[in-house]
Amino acid sequence: MRNFSKFLACLAIGAAMPVVAYAQSADDSLIKRGEYVSREGDCIACHTALHGKAYAGGLEIKSPIGVIYSTNITPDSKYGIGNYTLADFTRALRDGVRKDGSTLYPAMPYAEFALMPDEDIKALYEYFMHGVQPEAVPNKPVGISWPMSMRWPLSIWKAMFVGSPKPYQAAAGADPVVARGEYLVNGPGHCGECHTPRGFAMQQKALTAAGGPVYLSGGAPIDNWVAPSLRSDPIQGLGGWSEEDIFTFLKTGRIDRSAVFGGMADVVAWSTQHLSDDDLRAIAKYLKSTAEVPVTGTYQYDSRATQMVASGQTTSDPGAAVYRAQCSICHKDDGSGVARMFPPLANNPVVVTENPTSLVNVISFGGVLPATNLAPSSVAMPGFVKTLSDQQIADVTNFIRKGWGNHGVGTVSASDVRKLRQTGAPVSTSGWNATSAGWFAQLPQPYGHDWTFSPQTHSGVDEAQ
Ligand code: HEC
Ligand code: HEC
Ligand code: HEC
Repeated sequence: MRNFSKFLACLAIGAAMPVVAYAQSADDSLIKRGEYVSREGDCIACHTALHGKAYAGGLEIKSPIGVIYSTNITPDSKYGIGNYTLADFTRALRDGVRKDGSTLYPAMPYAEFALMPDEDIKALYEYFMHGVQPEAVPNKPVGISWPMSMRWPLSIWKAMFVGSPKPYQAAAGADPVVARGEYLVNGPGHCGECHTPRGFAMQQKALTAAGGPVYLSGGAPIDNWVAPSLRSDPIQGLGGWSEEDIFTFLKTGRIDRSAVFGGMADVVAWSTQHLSDDDLRAIAKYLKSTAEVPVTGTYQYDSRATQMVASGQTTSDPGAAVYRAQCSICHKDDGSGVARMFPPLANNPVVVTENPTSLVNVISFGGVLPATNLAPSSVAMPGFVKTLSDQQIADVTNFIRKGWGNHGVGTVSASDVRKLRQTGAPVSTSGWNATSAGWFAQLPQPYGHDWTFSPQTHSGVDEAQ
């Protein structure tokens, strides 16, 4: 254990983001502002390889057409962006165009970053030039073969789906807090990259609320985590969450009714927990202010599952037997969990969200509820891939999706579980809409298995947190 924490400490030192030490001439408050903007945009999550140097790039992002690597954005003049002028940097962030004039893959969320005002881009630039340590780490070539490797068609894609968004302007008469939230969600926070479904060409189906109910209505699996709807539906979305719930979830990763996991654990650990209370409240207020969407149902607690688990009379449902033996100790017989430790499974949107991939993933491989500044304990859920058969994992998944009044659609099979376990393929059954997976289709590391654990190595002793 002692060695392990030493190991963590070393990693943390290696990965720590040095700030003011490198600031020589530039205005310190501008650099600080830029550092904050980098938290809004979560630049570090994508631009740092697993256990790599902060911002030195090299993170593998698998897309349907091949592997893309994030690039070195430290101020190293040979390998990083040390030679970028403010104009070059602005063009990369707003237009997705590199210094050499080629178009970036949309794995870099420039459609959203385009909403940033000039002052924030300037501050970000100062931070990257003077607040980040240069690292001489060469970029990796993209692993995409010709003809898909040609970058020029990307500019056509961009023209079709992204256009040239302008810096954010609040609608006339808008509540300034709601407007700030809208800016953070659609702009630097790029929440829709995961929470909005994608169309045939991997474009997000809506970039703003003007796109209708599809906007933030839940995404396709990304590295086998499914981002649920952030709209008003009470069953699959945030309809049952208060603004305070959303605020606390983004700040600490846990509320009585939920615990952050999967890809969202990284978002909370590296980005949202570092935002100001005002900004988090603005996000919460904005999400609660989006137009109502059609409701998929109402929740009504049903005690039959609880009785089966409590009494051991589980012959009618093999999943209940697995639940009783393996899960009820933490998640409780009635699926209510333990507040801020073991999330409830009854009436939890992520349990009934249309695509059950996240559930099979977390039950198979487990998860770590990351420690955050305000909730410093990290709590783990063990993976059951070694203890349970594919059939048992399928059974228990189906049991929690239908138990206690949950109405998850469809049935997970043993072969779905086997595929996910062996090839990393998300659960996709006819009738389930798990196709258009997007640029982040399979196993992008930023939000991947290994990666999900890495906030642990960056937290605690790490200044970066
Ligand atoms: C979701 C992942 C992701 C996030 C978040 C992200 N980037 Fe990127 N970024 C990428 C990828 C991938 C590339 C390389 C794309 C390519 O090769 O076409 C890239 C490229 C860049 C480039 C071009 C560098 C070069 O190689 O010339 C700059 C500059 C950049 N990002 C800055 C930022 C900043 C600043 C932020 C935070 C505000 C940020 N990125 C957030 C994924 C991301
Ligand atoms: C990398 C992909 C990704 C990004 C980017 C992302 N999310 Fe998530 N989000 C997820 C996943 C996966 C879940 C489901 C796991 C969980 O509930 O923790 C989730 C869950 C949530 C939940 C809890 C919903 C529920 O029903 O349990 C909220 C609230 C949320 N995200 C808000 C946001 C906001 C606000 C942003 C932008 C600042 C954002 N997310 C950006 C992937 C993402
Ligand atoms: C030792 C306690 C423990 C056991 C046993 C356990 N879990 Fe968990 N479970 C957790 C913790 C802690 C989390 C939060 C994980 C995270 O944040 O990554 C969690 C998360 C989940 C989630 C995601 C829900 C959410 O909102 O975060 C599901 C679904 C789940 N568990 C199902 C199960 C099932 C099914 C079993 C039995 C096969 C099981 N768990 C056994 C502790 C446990």
